[in-house]
Amino acid sequence: MQFTNNLLALLTLLPLTLAAPESQLEAKFESGVSILGTAVVTTYSGDACNGSNEQVTVTNGGYRCFAVSNKRSIGYSGSGCTVTTWSGNNCRGSSFVATRAGCYSVLYGSVSIQC
Ligand SMILES: *[C@@H]1O[C@H](CO)[C@@H](O)[C@H](O)[C@H]1NC(C)=O
Repeated sequence: MQFTNNLLALLTLLPLTLAAPESQLEAKFESGVSILGTAVVTTYSGDACNGSNEQVTVTNGGYRCFAVSNKRSIGYSGSGCTVTTWSGNNCRGSSFVATRAGCYSVLYGSVSIQC
């Protein structure tokens, strides 16, 4: 009888111990997906994403830093990347971070894109 009780206790505990690795796997999968991103960044001479422009695309895990001249706004479309404008021409100086897609009116000398 003692043996049966112990076996029952063991069986009741089993589902709990089996559930843990599965939920950890789901968490890993979700965080794996969230680090993938794409950024299409357009630099503009006008201050409202207008005027002459140039486009740069960075995807999953990529990084770019490039200098611009006479650019007064920046457009970011896509997601999962960090787009930063810098006052200096080598991704240095004071910075502004565009955390989500949109058009930003800002004066800058260079841009870094981390996806
Ligand atoms: C961009 O648009 C703004 C606001 O409409 C305007 O004042 C500016 O002259 C435009 N710039 C260019 C380069 O088209």
